Amino acid sequence: MDNTLFAQVDNYIAHLLAPEDAALLHTLETSEAAGLIPMNVSPSQGKFLQTMALAVQAKKILEIGTLGGYSTIWLARALPAGGKLITLEADPQCAQVARGNFAFANLQEVIELREGKALDTLPQLAGEGPFDFVFIDADKPPYLEYFEFALQLSRPGTMIICDNVIRGGLVLDPSSEDEKVRGVQRLNAALATDTRVSAIILPNVGVKEFDGMVVAVVK
Ligand code: SAH
Ligand code: DHB
Ligand code: MG
Repeated sequence: MDNTLFAQVDNYIAHLLAPEDAALLHTLETSEAAGLIPMNVSPSQGKFLQTMALAVQAKKILEIGTLGGYSTIWLARALPAGGKLITLEADPQCAQVARGNFAFANLQEVIELREGKALDTLPQLAGEGPFDFVFIDADKPPYLEYFEFALQLSRPGTMIICDNVIRGGLVLDPSSEDEKVRGVQRLNAALATDTRVSAIILPNVGVKEFDGMVVAVVK
């Protein structure tokens, strides 16, 4: 797909409404220097997440999938004084880079990174909820399991956002054998009949590959 115009429009939006400060730029620089795969959200997506967290007046945020902490920093900046963000990351190198970035951003008291596979660390969060906002952005095959954990850790009004649920349109293929595609298809299909939430998928076009985010609110 020729996405030049979409990328230009995204850059226009980001330049106006999602400028990156030194801490966000530092996060991308340290991530690249460490050789982390650049899978972070875009600036406009970061601002979108921040705006949604503000909309629900989030005081407790949970993120699944930290990478270098780029989305984490956008989200943590939506928190009021005394707010808390817990982010889950399996890869020790990502965790190390992210911790450095949180310190650089002066958010080390606000953000707590828990290292380990999310399916192992999520059960340990029981009793630490409810979270007001959850961002799911780790490995795709267990997305439905992550969503179930998010629901268990939620209250009515909690917003749950899941990245990468359209995958360049590959989700349209019902016989896809791509395990990432199958993982998000499984979540998307489950949402269709889940009466516990009101959910929609926002398609995302811009500087990243054509994709989409689930936006769900717990009833
Ligand atoms: N949210 C980040 C990008 C996350 S990329 C941002 O937008 O800036 C996905 C991350 O999930 C990677 O860092 C990867 O190491 C991590 N991950 C993959 N499998 C995981 C698992 N089982 N548990 C926790 N994290 C995992
Ligand atoms: C992939 C993961 C992401 O979180 C993302 O935003 C883009 C791509 C991936 O695993 O392919
Ligand atoms: Mg993502």
